[in-house]
Amino acid sequence: MQFTTSYIIAASQLFALAMGAPLLQADAREARSLVERSAYKVFGGDGSAAQGWPKKADWKSFEDLWKANENTINNSCTQFNQKNNSPEETANIKKAISKVSKEVNIEERVLLAIVVQESKGCVRAPTTNYGFDNPGLMQSFQGKNTCFNVSPCPVEKIEGMIRDGAGVGAEAGLGQSIKKAGGNDAQTIYKAARNYNSGSLDPSGNLGKGIATHCYSSDVANILIGWADGKHGCDEATIGNLGGSSSPSTPATTTPAPAATPATTTTTPSGGCKKSILVKAGDTCASTGITAALNPGLNAQCSNLIAGKTYCAA
Ligand SMILES: *[C@@H]1O[C@H](CO)[C@@H](O)[C@H](O)[C@H]1NC(C)=O
Repeated sequence: MQFTTSYIIAASQLFALAMGAPLLQADAREARSLVERSAYKVFGGDGSAAQGWPKKADWKSFEDLWKANENTINNSCTQFNQKNNSPEETANIKKAISKVSKEVNIEERVLLAIVVQESKGCVRAPTTNYGFDNPGLMQSFQGKNTCFNVSPCPVEKIEGMIRDGAGVGAEAGLGQSIKKAGGNDAQTIYKAARNYNSGSLDPSGNLGKGIATHCYSSDVANILIGWADGKHGCDEATIGNLGGSSSPSTPATTTPAPAATPATTTTTPSGGCKKSILVKAGDTCASTGITAALNPGLNAQCSNLIAGKTYCAA
């Protein structure tokens, strides 16, 4: 299978929206008191331990990472004006990750990290489209499963979203990205994550350069070492200039309780799109600033906008 640079596998446009997710501060505080969390560290360079990136020994266990992110996952759908996960749906995400992990031979904590990075764990995450549909928990490349506007989300759909993200029966996915990166060490996963996000790696090997989301691998590395809920301290504009071991950490503050901010239209730090918009019924390109030029999936007349999908507007 040949990857091309012409498409983005999983654009992670939801991530920026997720950062503004209104979390219940009391819940967040309670969760923090139970689980040790790390402050965000900016990782620049090629993903290697030599350049300061975490090794697998630095990663937390799946159980610890689940606990660290559970509050986020419980409240992750508010940002999309969707009903938050029910206790059963959240429990089924965890079960689905464990089940699919065995089927596809990708570590549970790696699948969880991509779920958190892509959708914060909302089973009803909308489908983004930058030329290809990216639905569901993992915003998978041309995935078949979604529960947008569906409640309750059936367990088969939840498992399907994880399989879609892993790349089961698909042209591209996390499994294909890991294979392409080669190996089984932490650096392989950081490279695979970036490829999952963008369909390609910058020829320089610097994971902060190239198309799509420059901070993607740094974010995934942070999730794997226990960062959750906190301030995302990576700058899309400068991460690619950091050449490894110099990588300075952001002001190491204790993670503050996330501010409750409404998230509707949000500027994103994506390399490809500066502003994404979730289209509602009746929206037009003229009324939203969405253009066909920015969205390869749209026709020139912009007559094929689909409500419930997210498009690029700047
Ligand atoms: C998340 O929701 C589940 C189910 O309601 C609950 O058991 C768990 O304590 C919640 N976790 C956090 C961190 O709030």
